[in-house]
Amino acid sequence: MARRAGESAAERVVAWQRTHGRNHLPWQQTRDPYRVWLSEIMLQQTQVATVLEYYSRFLNRFPDVAALAHASQDEVMGLWSGLGYYSRARNLHRCAQQVVSEHGGQFPATADMLATLPGIGKSTAGAIAAFCFSQRVPILDANVRRVLTRWLGFKQDLASASSERQLWAQAERLLPDEDLTNAMPRYTQGLMDLGATICTPRVPRCGECPLRRDCVAYREGAQEQYPAKTRKLSRKAESWRLLVLRDEQGRVWLERRPATGIWAGMHCVPVFQNEDALDACVDGLRAGGPLQVSELQPFVHVLTHRDLHLHPMAVSGDFLVSPPGAGEWLAPDQWGTVGLPAPIRKLLDATQSHLW
Ligand code: ADE
Repeated sequence: MARRAGESAAERVVAWQRTHGRNHLPWQQTRDPYRVWLSEIMLQQTQVATVLEYYSRFLNRFPDVAALAHASQDEVMGLWSGLGYYSRARNLHRCAQQVVSEHGGQFPATADMLATLPGIGKSTAGAIAAFCFSQRVPILDANVRRVLTRWLGFKQDLASASSERQLWAQAERLLPDEDLTNAMPRYTQGLMDLGATICTPRVPRCGECPLRRDCVAYREGAQEQYPAKTRKLSRKAESWRLLVLRDEQGRVWLERRPATGIWAGMHCVPVFQNEDALDACVDGLRAGGPLQVSELQPFVHVLTHRDLHLHPMAVSGDFLVSPPGAGEWLAPDQWGTVGLPAPIRKLLDATQSHLW
C-alpha cells in the first residue's frame, strides 16, 4: 500500500504489522480471552521461543479456565516449573478461580474489569481487551515504553508517577480511531513486534521502522538514551546453603517454601542462611547412624533484584532420624508433580547422575 503523507502513526504501525509483524503465533489465532490471557502472563518475563512449549502443555492439560481453576496448586506450579517468576503461576491459578467464582467462568470484557483480577496489571489488561474485544485501550509494557518514549522524545524519568501518567495519556492519544475491530489487535501486536524486532534496546534497526520519519530519538541519534532512567535497580547478593538429602531408595527430602518471598509455595530442598545452621542439622541427622556427606559445586542463580549464591551439600544414607521440619521424601518420578524452581530441579538432576 502506498503511504499517504498524512498517514497517522497508528495507521503506519497497523500497515507495518500486517506485512512485517509476527502473525503466526498460536495465541494470535484466537480471540478466546482464556488463551490470550494465558499467553500474556507467560510472555510477561519470558521469550516467545520458551513460552511456545509451555503454552501448548498448559492448554493440553487445562483446556479452559474451569479446568485450571479446579487443579491443585502443586500441579499448576509443577507445569510452570522452569518458566521462573513463580508469583505469576500463583496469580494465574488465583485468577482462574476468581473468574469462575465471581464472573461465572467468563473473563470480563473491559480493561478496567480485567485489571481487578490477580496478576493482571494495567498493560496486560489492555492487551487482553484489545486482542479479544478490540477495546480502544493502550498497552505499555517494557518494549512499548521504549518504542513510544523514543518516537515521542519523552525524556522524563518513568520512575515518577506523574511522568508515568503522562506517558499513558500519550499512549492513549496515539491509538487508532477507525475500524477498531481489526485495527486494535493489529496495532497492539504491531507495537509489541516493533519493540521486540526493530526498536531493540541496543542497535535498533531504524532503517526498517515505520515510525522513523517522525521519531525524535532517531532524529537526535539518541535512541539508546530512551527510556530515560535516573534511578538504578539495586542488586543484592544473598548466600544460601542447600541441603540435598537422599535416602537409600534415591528419594530426596523436599519441603514447601513459605507462602511469601523467594520461590514462595514451591518445593525445595532445606535452605539454611549459614554454614553453622546447616552443620547443626547434619550433626543431628548423623546421630541416627553413618551418612555420606559431600560438598557440591556452588553456583549463582540470578533473580530480578538479587543474585542467589547457592552452596549445596549432599548427604546420603539410611536416615534413621527424620529430617526436622515439615517435608517429605519424593522419588525422582514425583519431582515433576510438584513445583520445583528450575535451579533446584537442575541440581537434583545433576546429583542423580553422579555417584555421591
Ligand atoms: N509479548 C507480550 N505479548 C506478546 C504477544 N502477544 N506476542 C508476542 N510477544 C508478546
